[in-house]
Amino acid sequence: MDATERIEKLKTEALSAVAGAGSTAELEDVRVKYLGRSAELTNTKKSIGRLPAEQRREVGRAANLATREIEEALSEHAARLTAAEREARLKAEAVDITLPGTPYPKGHLHPTQRVIDEVVDFFVGLGYRVAEGPEVETDYYNFTALNIPPGHPARMMQATFFLDDGLVLRTHTSPVQVRTMLAQEPPVYVIVPGRVYRRDSDPTHTPMFNQIEGLAVDRGLSLAHLKGTLAAMARSFFGEKTKTRFRPSYFQFTEPSVEMDVSCFVCGGSDPNCKVCKGAGWLEMLGAGMVDPAVLEEVGYDPEEYTGFAFGMGPDRMAMVRYGIPDLRLFFEGDLRFLRQF
Ligand code: DAH
Repeated sequence: MDATERIEKLKTEALSAVAGAGSTAELEDVRVKYLGRSAELTNTKKSIGRLPAEQRREVGRAANLATREIEEALSEHAARLTAAEREARLKAEAVDITLPGTPYPKGHLHPTQRVIDEVVDFFVGLGYRVAEGPEVETDYYNFTALNIPPGHPARMMQATFFLDDGLVLRTHTSPVQVRTMLAQEPPVYVIVPGRVYRRDSDPTHTPMFNQIEGLAVDRGLSLAHLKGTLAAMARSFFGEKTKTRFRPSYFQFTEPSVEMDVSCFVCGGSDPNCKVCKGAGWLEMLGAGMVDPAVLEEVGYDPEEYTGFAFGMGPDRMAMVRYGIPDLRLFFEGDLRFLRQF
């Protein structure tokens, strides 16, 4: 067999080896075997110079052609194999995004939060602004500025948590009334949700609970505005048929002071064994009153020019009534079996 025939045979062998390679790794072996540094074809090319002069041209041409053909076959097959391998890998690594995800337990709004949101939304709808204040409060804002001077017996009724340096945990949201009025000129229309603290713990009292305070100060506000506003809120919260009644009461920072009851939204007063109102037909809902002129003076408002009304309610209590929850402490235990019901 002469040199060109040998080259032709090597080429045929190489091409079929290329075609038979099943992976890029196998293909690389084929390349090394037929075109590598110690491959026969490579050696042939290196030793062309030693051939008789009349053969050099022909053998050289054949060797180069064979090399080029093998190279082309290698790269074509490499492209095919790479594509097939990528396809296979993608298939193996595929994520089925139509499979349902792993469910995680969803949270719920706390019953008290639902009440707060609803009441705040009602007042925001009337044009009130949401205001907030600190839970660690000074004695001045919590008591003195609200017409409860040092030594006044009313301070005893609030079972205060006293801190150092004249600070207290606020016993009500009313100090935010003072902070708001000091920070702006009238007219004032604010609704103030917040946490408050008292040394109390039994089925209907917890040391921390929530209040929603409201304050309106403007020219010409009267008890009629207070009644109209709060009765509208009660109807929005408990239903259109809800009736309200106002009883005289006493708070240091309002004069006159009232408490508002709402007709029982369960029995409407018709069931002597009603679980919600205990047969009374009425539910106590909030304290309110016309802002005491002494409080207006304290913040630098002229009580001859401005009048105001204020009110405070307990959204925890309202949630207990609305959802028929017997023990306030359930609200703070974070028991999912309880919370899932809302
Ligand atoms: N601060 C009172 C309390 O905690 C509730 C209250 C009563 C707030 C009358 C008011 C009000 O704004 O006018 O018992």
